[in-house]
Amino acid sequence: MKKKKLKKKICVVGMGYVGSVSAIIFANIMENKTSKYDVIGIEKNDKMGQEKINKLNSGKFITKTNDSKIQSYLKKAKKLNSLSIKSNYEDLKTADYVVIAVNLDLKGNENKPKINFSNLIKITNIIGASIKKDATIILETTVPPGTCDTIIMPIILKNFKIRQIKTAPNIIHSYERVTPGKNYIKSIKKSFRIYSSSNKEAEKKFKFLYRDVIDLKKFSLIKLDKFIESESAKILENSYRAVNIAFIQEWTHFSLENKLSISKILNVIKLRKTHNNIMRPGLGVGGYCLTKDPLFAYFSNREFFKNKNNKFEISRTSMRINRNMPNFTYKIVKDIFKNKKKLKIAVFGITYKEDVGDIRFSPSKALIEKLEKNNFNIDVYDPLIDKLPQNIKAKLNLKFDYDKYDLIIFIVKNKLANKINFSNFRNNKKKIHIIDTDNCLNKKNIDLINKKKLKFINLNA
Ligand SMILES: NC(=O)c1ccc[n+]([C@@H]2O[C@H](COP(=O)([O-])OP(=O)(O)OC[C@H]3O[C@@H](n4cnc5c(N)ncnc54)[C@H](O)[C@@H]3O)[C@@H](O)[C@H]2O)c1
Repeated sequence: MKKKKLKKKICVVGMGYVGSVSAIIFANIMENKTSKYDVIGIEKNDKMGQEKINKLNSGKFITKTNDSKIQSYLKKAKKLNSLSIKSNYEDLKTADYVVIAVNLDLKGNENKPKINFSNLIKITNIIGASIKKDATIILETTVPPGTCDTIIMPIILKNFKIRQIKTAPNIIHSYERVTPGKNYIKSIKKSFRIYSSSNKEAEKKFKFLYRDVIDLKKFSLIKLDKFIESESAKILENSYRAVNIAFIQEWTHFSLENKLSISKILNVIKLRKTHNNIMRPGLGVGGYCLTKDPLFAYFSNREFFKNKNNKFEISRTSMRINRNMPNFTYKIVKDIFKNKKKLKIAVFGITYKEDVGDIRFSPSKALIEKLEKNNFNIDVYDPLIDKLPQNIKAKLNLKFDYDKYDLIIFIVKNKLANKINFSNFRNNKKKIHIIDTDNCLNKKNIDLINKKKLKFINLNA
């Protein structure tokens, strides 16, 4: 009897926003009418980890998302029986590919950033002690430049030496550029994929896997020569964005103070091709990446390369400005209400961006915390969240009451915001104020607000 060909196995360590969706995509790759790979997701055994494991194993995604493709990909993976999530590392022993997509958190701030590598070191040791000698390790986690050469490679080599493996390890650094939201899956598939590799064998195997992930008709896999080059590409890319956001904040201040139309100013600047992606005002910077990555180069320069000369002043200043951005909106609120007490505020959007239920480092959350600390009473309207963080007293997603609020702040575009009928405020009991921090309201509603002469501050006016 002909022996059934064993499928190649991919282990993805870390079932967060990056790892879970990568695993789902791998589990949907097809060959001969079946899945090409057996995909094992590995997640921590703690309470949050177990929640993710249970959700994914029962065909649900780890969080609410407006990308409908995620559900259909999960459904297909279930049908193909190609995805299984576990809390042990046993499958590493038989894996052909090991993708590392764990978090690497930043502690401290722009004055003294600290990174605790112990988790990444632990995982790398487990991988080095378990994998087959020809398995390929792909590091997707965002790391300070120099991490692959200083930490990952030496740990794998040390473990190979203990195991008397003489083969050079196959290691790839290929950072993730996913944008969670409406186009979550598309943002992985339709994107140039940058990588660097330890040797030709690793490169060949990486290309073999990712030719089925990336849409190679329009995009490509781009090799950089050294690990530190691809590590730096990720950090520079995100630092560039953070710096540009901070820069526009200065002009948002200036425009509001001097009653200028920032949107008109930005629109004429955008007519120059070189400037057409200029940033616009918003509440602030949030999410897991832009709130840490701009400090990674400063960290590695000091800690890995012992170089104290280049202090990455611009990146560090942008981090400070971006962190303080919610205070700017807070000051607007304080100026409107001076010392009035017992005021009620509706906040639309607590996630860090639209279309995904992720509130990590959300500027909206920072603003809510500050408002609550100063005795404002808040209700939050956000369809992508089931519960609010424990430290927030606010109530979530109530039936909207037109007579209840003194102020409505629109922070993240969500489907509840444009359901409000602004003409209902005409005869309501309270004099309502409205702030739109991030182009959340559509033109029809803005026209209505202006027609009704409601008090309106639009950061993007
Ligand atoms: N979220 C994004 O949009 C995004 C985009 C591009 C790049 N990245 C980068 O990708 C990496 C992962 O980001 P994320 O948003 O998915 O983080 P996350 O915190 O959502 O996911 C990381 C997961 O790894 C798990 N994990 C940690 N240690 C583990 C261990 N020892 N064993 C098993 N599981 C473990 C965590 O429990 C968590 O579920 C980060 O470096 C991040 O900067 C994130």
